[in-house]
Amino acid sequence: MKFFVDTAEIDQIKELHALGMVDGVTTNPSLIAKSGRDILEVTKEICDLVDGPVSAEVVALDAETMLAEGRKLAKIADNIAVKVPLTWAGLQTCKALSDDGIMVNVTLCFSANQALLAAKAGATFISPFIGRLDDINLDGLQLIEDIRTIYDNYGFETNILAASIRSANHMSDCAKIGADVATAPPAVIKAMANHILTDKGLAGFMADVKKANIKIL
Ligand code: G3P
Repeated sequence: MKFFVDTAEIDQIKELHALGMVDGVTTNPSLIAKSGRDILEVTKEICDLVDGPVSAEVVALDAETMLAEGRKLAKIADNIAVKVPLTWAGLQTCKALSDDGIMVNVTLCFSANQALLAAKAGATFISPFIGRLDDINLDGLQLIEDIRTIYDNYGFETNILAASIRSANHMSDCAKIGADVATAPPAVIKAMANHILTDKGLAGFMADVKKANIKIL
């Protein structure tokens, strides 16, 4: 499973990238707003840093303007994936951009039917939001599983990009189900390293290091 990092914070992307943890980056208008940066500038900076796909989201609601925005975003770099919402206008924009050979990430997906439409419209990525489904007592991971089944049944090449990831367990669960990519905030990716038995084991080792005065350097 590929790891995308869901942030527009350059320092956080750099830190994870240095460890080989960043196969791509996703942003959205809320993350751009949080960064306080200009969308075109910060997106360019991220594209220069990361080789993999960098999702940048349109902000218009109608297909014509979305398409113009998507074409402008795509000019930033070859690794841009234009992000469009899963609306009818978004699907129209997806089809037009993918016909032009531009990567498209269809976002705000909450059902298997929506994912089916995105694949038919030529999406490179479909982004089901699992955390937001869990928030309303629906089953986000079940949606990933359903989309995996549907795409595999018919050989759709659209990549399942699990989004709205809230916990380290979400990451391993998505990997078990067979999501192609998971995008997570940097803190969630770092939390994957944590285990209480690792901490406990290390505390025991450190106590013995002190007791026996073990030195390496
Ligand atoms: O990738 C989508 C993500 O940014 C949404 O996450 O936690 O706001 O539902 P969240």
